[in-house]
Amino acid sequence: MEEVQNYIQANRQRFLDELLDFLRIPSISADTKYKGDVLKASGWLKDELVRIGMDQVEVVPTAGHPIVYGEKRVDDSLPTILIYGHYDVQPPDPLDLWNSPPFEPVIKDEKIYARGACDDKGQLYMHVKALEAMMASGKLTCNVKVMFEGEEEVGSVNLGHFLEQYKDKLSADVILVSDTSIIANDVPSITTGLRGLSYVEVEVTGPNIDLHSGVYGGAVGNPANILCKMIASLHDEDKHITIPGFYDDVVVVSDDERKQMNMAPFSEAEYMKDLDVKALMGEKGYTTLERTSIRPTVEVNGIWGGYIGEGAKTVLPSKASAKISMRLVPNQDPDKITALFAEHFKRIAPPSVNIKVTPHHGGQPAVTPTDTIEYQAASKAMEKSFGKAPLPQRSGGSIPIVALFESVLGVKTVLLGFGLDSDAIHSPNEHYGLFNFFKGIETIPYYFMYYAEMKKS
Ligand code: BES
Ligand code: MN
Ligand code: MN
Repeated sequence: MEEVQNYIQANRQRFLDELLDFLRIPSISADTKYKGDVLKASGWLKDELVRIGMDQVEVVPTAGHPIVYGEKRVDDSLPTILIYGHYDVQPPDPLDLWNSPPFEPVIKDEKIYARGACDDKGQLYMHVKALEAMMASGKLTCNVKVMFEGEEEVGSVNLGHFLEQYKDKLSADVILVSDTSIIANDVPSITTGLRGLSYVEVEVTGPNIDLHSGVYGGAVGNPANILCKMIASLHDEDKHITIPGFYDDVVVVSDDERKQMNMAPFSEAEYMKDLDVKALMGEKGYTTLERTSIRPTVEVNGIWGGYIGEGAKTVLPSKASAKISMRLVPNQDPDKITALFAEHFKRIAPPSVNIKVTPHHGGQPAVTPTDTIEYQAASKAMEKSFGKAPLPQRSGGSIPIVALFESVLGVKTVLLGFGLDSDAIHSPNEHYGLFNFFKGIETIPYYFMYYAEMKKS
């Protein structure tokens, strides 16, 4: 193990330079203009896997963006770890809020600034470099398969098909994913839950054209006003969601578990200060940590309609729209929730408008157990590299494919992430700490070591 860690120390600068090259490729999966760049990123990754000595490396085409696959078989008696990550990134908009261009990475204050620095190219690349270090030192203690997709940020639809199609090829004892956060650099944690997601777009249509807001205003239902009222009615005064049946399947978390989760270090004052808000707001009866992990939500992600250009234009819009996300918890089903939402939204609309609800991608929530050797090995690995045992923590984010790993492949996932919630993923000036990047590379070989040991005994 010392050789592996020494190899990492000796190659830090090169690892970092390579990551910066990777970050220069604008692999934006949502925007078809960047299809060529997503493909370029997959080729770059494939070449890198070949270079470090992986076998069976291939870029597998899909109906969307490709999947990069590779493996290294050491010995059939050893356990197999399947590593998952995503090399696609979110669009960088709004561009004018970046302090440096999103695809020209810079290092400032010990952090790498670029789109994808943390989510997920930086975290994915930790695995590539950990594998390189283990293989170069002849210390790979488990068989390994890697599977990197280019569509996580757009719903992982084709990866879902890939899992069905290559069930046998992907057989493994555990799936290791670094695409989540730790509590703080001196408070390591392992993510034990992810929320599910239902995402819909709604369109409210009133009159057949935009109207003069003086000539017609007061007599014709205004879609923008109506949309706002409908959205506002989705929560009551206690910030409970009002969609009938919405909470029916929600698993009630025990008082004991809630007590545990609220013992995690967290300062509401600092949280508010970081966000520049004077007060927080959320569901009555729950703490901030609970509201962002074990409780479901309904949030407007975008809203538009009518005139939004410069100056004042007097117009009563014909249409108004919103994009709405619902974060789900065990055992809510995204399709069922989408249907409940659509039915409710149409029912509450006044007769003066028509409603269209278009579902986008969704995903199942997931919780991962802590009483397994898969989790315990991760805990020991982090304790070794951080000098402090990690806390289990449920996250508010979503990685829909994790539920499918279990239902399709029958394999449990360990969410060994190294980001920070303050890394501004999906936002302008996304960054990833050098500390976190290298801590990840150091921790992964310990995971391989402890997992192999614990599986043997
Ligand atoms: N890596 C994130 C999810 C995440 C971030 C989990 C931080 C825990 C902590 C992932 O890339 C992501 O952004 N997921 C999307 C859902 C997806 C279907 C677009 C999300 O959570 O909004
Ligand atoms: Mn991610
Ligand atoms: Mn993301």
